[in-house]
Amino acid sequence: CIKSIILAGGSGTRLWPLSRELYPKQFLKIKGNSLFQDTVSRCLQISDISEIYVVTNEMHKYFVIGQVEELGHEIPDENILLEPEGKNTLPAICYGIKEIEKAHGNSVVGVFSSDHVLDNDAMKTISGAEKLTSDHLVTFGIVPTQPHTGYGYIKPGEELEVGRKVLEFREKPCLEDAERYIAEGCLWNSGMFLFDTDIFLEELKSLAPDVWNAFDGSSNIKEIYDRMPNISIDYGIMEKSSRVSVVELEHKWSDLGNFDALYAESEKDTNNSCTLACENVCVDSNNNFVYSKDNKLVSLIDIDDMIVVDTSDALLVCPRKSSEKVKSVVNTLKQRN
Ligand code: GDD
Ligand code: MG
Repeated sequence: CIKSIILAGGSGTRLWPLSRELYPKQFLKIKGNSLFQDTVSRCLQISDISEIYVVTNEMHKYFVIGQVEELGHEIPDENILLEPEGKNTLPAICYGIKEIEKAHGNSVVGVFSSDHVLDNDAMKTISGAEKLTSDHLVTFGIVPTQPHTGYGYIKPGEELEVGRKVLEFREKPCLEDAERYIAEGCLWNSGMFLFDTDIFLEELKSLAPDVWNAFDGSSNIKEIYDRMPNISIDYGIMEKSSRVSVVELEHKWSDLGNFDALYAESEKDTNNSCTLACENVCVDSNNNFVYSKDNKLVSLIDIDDMIVVDTSDALLVCPRKSSEKVKSVVNTLKQRN
C-alpha cells in the first residue's frame, strides 16, 4: 500500500488578498471543497487515512483536522506534522519520509502539493509507477502549453518499463531556457513524486548532506529546523540526482498559482468573465476575474482583462497578465511589518 505526504505549508502569496498567511489558498473554499480537501480525497484512492501524512504548521493544524473531518474521516494526530517554520519543500518532505519510516518501515511514498487541480484518474497513473521506485526517484510530467518560468522542466530520455529515464531536470529556468526546453520536448514537473523511502534517503545523504545532517542527532523538531537550510526538493535533489525517471500524466492538471490560473480554471459568463462570491454588473467589460466578499455588488465599465479582488480589509486591482507580480505586494507588506 502506498503512503502519502501532503505538503500544506505554503502561504500562496500570489493569491493575495484572498490567500493569507492565516488562511492560505490550499484551505480556501472559493467554490465547494478546498484544494486541500480535494488532495486528501485523491490520496484516499491510494492510501488509508492512517497512511496520509500532512506537513503543515501550528497555525493551520485545525484547518487540517476540520477539513478532513468534513470529508468524513479522522486523521490521526501523529500524522499531522507541524513544522516550527517553513523551510521549503525538501525539509518538509524529509520530515514526512522520516516519520513514515519510523511508523511503517521501508515504504513507497507519494508526495503531493495541496495547491493543484488534478483529475482523479491521475492517481491510477501515479500508483501504476510504483515498480519504478525500486531504482528511481519518480517524477510526473505534464506536456507544457507555454514557456512558463514558474515550473521545473524535465528532459525525458531512454524508455523504461513504465515511463522514461530523466536526462536533465531544471527548476524554474529563465524564459529563453524555458523556450529551448519546450523545443527539445521537455515536460513540466507536476510537483508530485513517488519515492521508495530507502532510495530517497540514500540520495538525500549524498546530494543534500546539510539537510541530512540537520536530522542527525536530535529528535527535537525545533532544534532540527534551526539547523535546516531553506531549499526546495527541486534544487536540492531533483536537479542533482542521476536516478530520476518521469511518467507522463495525460490528465487535467493545473497549479492554481496565481489569479490568471484561477481565471483559466473557472467557469466564465457571457462576457468571458469569472465572478466569484458576488454579483457583477458589467458594461462593455470582458475577460475579467472578479471576487468580492459578502456579496458586494461589483460593477465594471469598459474594463478588460483585469483582476478585481475585494476583501474586508484589502482590495487588489491589476491586469491579468501581471498576476505573477502579486507576490511583490506581500513581500513589501512583510518588510513594513
Ligand atoms: N509543509 C510545507 N512547508 N509545505 C510547503 C512549504 C514549506 O515550507 N513550501 C511550500 N510548500 C507546499 C505548498 O503549499 C505547495 O502545496 C507545495 O509545497 C509546492 O510548493 P510551491 O511553493 O507551490 O512550489 P512551486 O509551485 O513554486 O514549484 C513546485 O511545483 C511546480 C508545479 O506546481 C516545483 O516542484 C516545480 O518544479 C513544479 O513545476
Ligand atoms: Mg505551486
